[in-house]
Amino acid sequence: MTKKSDKVRRGSPSIKSIHICSRLPASTSRSDFHRRSLLIYDRRLTEGRPKLRAWIQLFPLRYGVDAGEQLKDLARYPLHIQKILSKWNRGGLDRNSHLVALGGGSVGDFVAFTASILMRGVALTLIPTTWLAALDSSHGGKTALNVGGMKNQLGTFYPASKVIIAKELLIRSATKLQFDHSQDALGELFKISLIDGDLFEHIARGPSLRSSDELLWLTLKRAIEAKYRIVDQDPFELRGVRQILNLGHTFGHVIEAHYGWQHGRSVGAGLVFALKWSLHRKILKNPDFNRIETMMRQHEFWIEPPQRPIPQGKALKLITVDKKKIGSRRLRFVFLKKPGAAFIKEIPFDEMIREGVRQRWIR
Ligand SMILES: NC(=O)c1ccc[n+]([C@@H]2O[C@H](COP(=O)([O-])OP(=O)(O)OC[C@H]3O[C@@H](n4cnc5c(N)ncnc54)[C@H](O)[C@@H]3O)[C@@H](O)[C@H]2O)c1
Ligand SMILES: [Zn+2]
Repeated sequence: MTKKSDKVRRGSPSIKSIHICSRLPASTSRSDFHRRSLLIYDRRLTEGRPKLRAWIQLFPLRYGVDAGEQLKDLARYPLHIQKILSKWNRGGLDRNSHLVALGGGSVGDFVAFTASILMRGVALTLIPTTWLAALDSSHGGKTALNVGGMKNQLGTFYPASKVIIAKELLIRSATKLQFDHSQDALGELFKISLIDGDLFEHIARGPSLRSSDELLWLTLKRAIEAKYRIVDQDPFELRGVRQILNLGHTFGHVIEAHYGWQHGRSVGAGLVFALKWSLHRKILKNPDFNRIETMMRQHEFWIEPPQRPIPQGKALKLITVDKKKIGSRRLRFVFLKKPGAAFIKEIPFDEMIREGVRQRWIR
């Protein structure tokens, strides 16, 4: 076993293995790394991007997939793994070879899960192509598959041995694909900034007229570092520390499932819900609440309930499938005292429903 694979098996998510650069590492000829890897990539990325297609073709072993939740569906997994194994074996790869993922969070979750079970664990490189993946899902070692339409029911903890974040893949103007993923990722950026007070101050005191791309790029490193500060305390989620990262997500998941909004936008709405509830319970003080609201409004991310609220029965059903629930009546909710001071409190489902009604999210 090599040192590298040792590191992967022990699970050591380290900021040192993150490479943030403007361009994908250039390769004029096929390196040893290319020959010893299987690249799994989002097929859509090659549309109208000859340079990226050429970069992908440097890998003699590659497997194109359609990104999205269906990629993570357990029912389709046997077919994928057969194709992956067939390429892996025909290409002469072994336990010391690498899986490389090029794509957004769905591709990352799928490839990382595969890396964790292939040959009982092979080295994994993640190359995120969405802001959500660059900022959040590539870090922390969570892998996931969906079962019967339910998200992330199966998974392992398996941190990547390397994460390469290339600006050229992320900036909107650089892609011909119409997908506003930078606006969506602001939900996760604001979440981590509220957990880490210094990052909040950095954003709140910075110029307000930045585009979402610019804001994300300028804060990316700090946001990733802030996530690792929490993940490193509890890499396998055994002590409950990581649940702080769930800020905005408990109610955000209800919103995402009911309205079908993008994840980041749902988290943004979930954050506003958590902030208003924290204020109502007098946990968060008015001046802090107002500063956070101002910062989020400046980036057009203060999300209020839409015209048609969620029926109570449906909201309760959605809350009961939350992975952070305790037994059948309570869940762990993350409140905010001030930027940099989030904390977890057990709450009965009924109380969250009542707050949802008060805030006009639930009828
Ligand atoms: N493992 C974790 O810790 C973690 C954390 C958060 C989210 N996630 C998972 O991440 C997934 C969501 O992430 P996502 O939105 O990145 O997923 P995704 O991979 O489904 O990408 C979303 C869409 O963007 C397209 N796309 C990818 N790169 C692009 C680019 N450069 N330009 C234009 N379009 C591009 C994809 O083809 C796809 O249609 C979910 O499955 C979620 O469960 C995982
Ligand atoms: Zn999230």
